[in-house]
Amino acid sequence: MNKNFDVVIIGAGPAGYVAAIRCAQLGLSTACVDDWLDADQQPSPGGTCLNVGCIPSKALIESSELFEKGQHQYAAHGINVEGVSLDLATMLASKDKVVRELTQGVAALFMANKIHFISGRGKLLANKRVEVSWLGEDKTETIQAKHIIIATGSSPTPLSAAPFQEGLIVDSTGALSFSEVPKRLGIIGAGVIALELGSVWKRLGSQVFLLKSSHSFLPDADQQVAKEALRLFTQQGLDIRMGAKIAGCQVIDNQLELSYRDEQGEHKEWLDKLIVAIGRRANTDNLLAPDTGVELDERGFIQVDKQCRTSVPGVFAVGDVVRGPMLAHKGSEEGVMVAELIAGHFAQVNYETIPSVIYTSPEIAWAGKTEEELIAAGIDYQVGTFPFSGNGRARAMMQTDGFIKLLADKKTDRLLGAHMIGPLCSELIMQAKIAMDFGSSSEDLAMTMFAHPTLSETLHEAALSVSGRPLHAVQKKKK
Ligand code: FAD
Ligand code: NAI
Repeated sequence: MNKNFDVVIIGAGPAGYVAAIRCAQLGLSTACVDDWLDADQQPSPGGTCLNVGCIPSKALIESSELFEKGQHQYAAHGINVEGVSLDLATMLASKDKVVRELTQGVAALFMANKIHFISGRGKLLANKRVEVSWLGEDKTETIQAKHIIIATGSSPTPLSAAPFQEGLIVDSTGALSFSEVPKRLGIIGAGVIALELGSVWKRLGSQVFLLKSSHSFLPDADQQVAKEALRLFTQQGLDIRMGAKIAGCQVIDNQLELSYRDEQGEHKEWLDKLIVAIGRRANTDNLLAPDTGVELDERGFIQVDKQCRTSVPGVFAVGDVVRGPMLAHKGSEEGVMVAELIAGHFAQVNYETIPSVIYTSPEIAWAGKTEEELIAAGIDYQVGTFPFSGNGRARAMMQTDGFIKLLADKKTDRLLGAHMIGPLCSELIMQAKIAMDFGSSSEDLAMTMFAHPTLSETLHEAALSVSGRPLHAVQKKKK
């Protein structure tokens, strides 16, 4: 095997595989080492995102939403579907099929771009060498490159009070494959995974309890959106308990007895399954030989500058294994940036407007600054808010919960933040993000003609509301 490359990438998740494709497009000889194996012990490039993250969770979200619509929402549209029932095995198989198609797609892109894919575990040695251990074999080989990109991603954080136990106390991966719908499902955490997967199993019939240690709900979101989300999710039947300190979880006769403490005292809850979703930690265990010189921060993430350079020249790190939000698109953009830098081009990532989406129903999405951040920074701003209940398309869809909120600089009118909860906000947020990235003002959006009837008109009305002139709502005069 060739042992010298321009670039060796460790990890083939959305950060690593995208970096590999861009490096190859730029004419760099590229190898990518990844240790992911699927259920049949076959290499499965795509990392957490494709194998057990973004893609399978969204497949289940889509299927479970259809199930719920069939059960509870079609009748209101005058469609009578009787005897809607769940075939969970088929739903899970269809999710697995989507995953397989996409991971095979990454493998095909590697081949087409002549990327040397190595299924194995990589360890960075000094002088930009990588020791590759073949999986399941007692064999190692060392390869070398002019540049290294570390893209090893992250893994679920365990909780000592409720250690993982096959099939009973699981992480997000286990929660994608319950073979039957748990009657009583507990989730530790009330963050993105808890809300998305909790909603899936709730729609499929579980009674769902979310227990979180702190009292703040979605602390990174704009708090007006977070408050509305908490109200709607509670109304949907998600039982969200805050300030809960987990004391322990015992397995008794294949059932779980979860003990926790809150301000009211000690509590016990009997559960069929428990998901632990309290965040993720960087995959840096046994990754770096002691003499590489690559530094970690106090939380175990690889330390990098704004352009993802580590403390060692020629060694970069991207994606979940470095600071910043753990999002696939953030990692991919970092991967592209680093490929461009290696090829000698100028490149940067705009970290100011990374879009965040929570794929609940309704969806939550934001980009840019929250109102709380603007207040803390002492920036004068104006707010424009418009509810989906005032939007014709949302009414036709019978999905009128939620609103769009825009924040604009009071002096310059430049858009500083967009926050939304409502139907298809995962798509709508991109309009606001593109506007922000192009330095748009709220007036620019207000003066834009939007097609009718579309959900996007809610964004238009929110922009008009910044200057107190929404067309389809009566707004008090702006101060
Ligand atoms: P990863 O995807 O974790 O890939 C790292 C790869 O490196 C893996 O294949 C790993 O096995 C391999 N690796 C690690 N160490 C080594 C080694 N030493 N040698 C060789 N290979 C190694 N993000 C979104 O943006 N949108 C979503 O909707 C979304 N949904 C999610 C849902 C769930 C349930 C979860 C768990 C995550 C979700 N995420 C989502 C987050 C997203 O999956 C991650 O941000 C993204 O996968 C990070 O990409 P990455 O390439 O940095 O790392
Ligand atoms: P998270 O950071 O979103 O939420 C963690 C939750 O656990 C919080 O509610 C927190 O208060 C709680 N918590 C922490 N320690 C606790 C403890 N000891 N006891 C009880 N509660 C505790 O992390 P999550 O949901 O695990 O997701 C991990 C990452 O995956 C996120 O950073 C996210 O970016 C990414 N992801 C992104 C998705 C998306 O973009 N739609 C979907 C799913 C995951």
